[in-house]
Amino acid sequence: MRLKDKTAIITGGASGIGRAAVERFLEEGARVVIADYNQDQGEQLVSELTDHQGRVAFCQTDVSNEAQAKAAVAFTLETFGRIDILVNNAGITRDAMFTKMTEDQFDQVMDINVKGVFHMTHAALPHLIEQGSGKIINTSSVSGVYGNVGQTNYAASKAAVIGMTKSWAKELGRKGIQVNAVAPGFTATPMVEKMPEKIIGQMTSVVSLQRLAKPRDIANAYLFLASDEADYVHGHVLHVDGGIMM
Ligand code: CAA
Ligand code: NAI
Repeated sequence: MRLKDKTAIITGGASGIGRAAVERFLEEGARVVIADYNQDQGEQLVSELTDHQGRVAFCQTDVSNEAQAKAAVAFTLETFGRIDILVNNAGITRDAMFTKMTEDQFDQVMDINVKGVFHMTHAALPHLIEQGSGKIINTSSVSGVYGNVGQTNYAASKAAVIGMTKSWAKELGRKGIQVNAVAPGFTATPMVEKMPEKIIGQMTSVVSLQRLAKPRDIANAYLFLASDEADYVHGHVLHVDGGIMM
């Protein structure tokens, strides 16, 4: 019960890595709000989590919308009375070779992957500061650390997440708020599974462990950073990528 009596908001919690994190956090005793814009999938997930009724709730949220981010935070406070952990996990890809990438593809990715993290954290911070504690976990990516073919927009967004993480760590440490990031490698979720087989094969071949991550591999890293075990880990980017570059 590493998260007993803690309340977490997990954005993008209706699918993939976020969903695994919802399950993992609940197993460890947390109360969880799933903030995701996919209402059907979010409500379906809550209805499936029968062992945890009363400790999990869904709030339809588009994190790129400031008012909806504020509403998700207000919903969490009304439902569970506090917020201890914010996992900024929601993210999208709009891949294209740079010469073909449109401004719209660039903006969509920036709006969700960068501004979404900004809005959710901005909305939760007054409460965390007043409380004098809190753990913020942001989701970057191997693409944000090393770059990737076809991902100018996405790699820029995930590098921005690292920049925000380190800046917030510097600003917020003295207020008792810890800020870290996880940089997952290629993970078997709908985001990757929609890629052509050949490209998934190329991705796997550069991984030292020779397999994609399971969503739970990444959720376990979120769990560590959210738990008391990581109380002195701050401003860190935890690479969970099976050894892509060493
Ligand atoms: N490495 C090296 N070369 C690559 C490459 C790669 N990863 N991906 C594509 N190329 C090459 C192609 O082989 C091709 O070369 P030639 O012109 O010599 O034939 C050239 O780049 C153009 O590729 P396409 O023919 O595929 O171009 P397209 O316009 O049809 O599609 C694309 C472009 C949409 C970017 C497609 O190549 C693609 O989907 N690439 C993979 C992008 C990717 O890795 N996305 C990761 C998604 S998972 C994720 O994002 C999670 C995370 O955090 C990591
Ligand atoms: P996924 O596509 O399976 O799930 C993403 C979830 O985010 C979905 O439930 C979707 O509805 C939600 N979402 C998208 N836009 C949203 C918005 N504006 N507001 C609220 N929710 C929104 O993706 P996956 O793979 O689980 O990715 C989770 C995070 O991990 C993302 O930030 C992604 O960039 C990152 N990541 C994923 C990797 C992978 O290989 N799958 C590798 C590295 C990072």
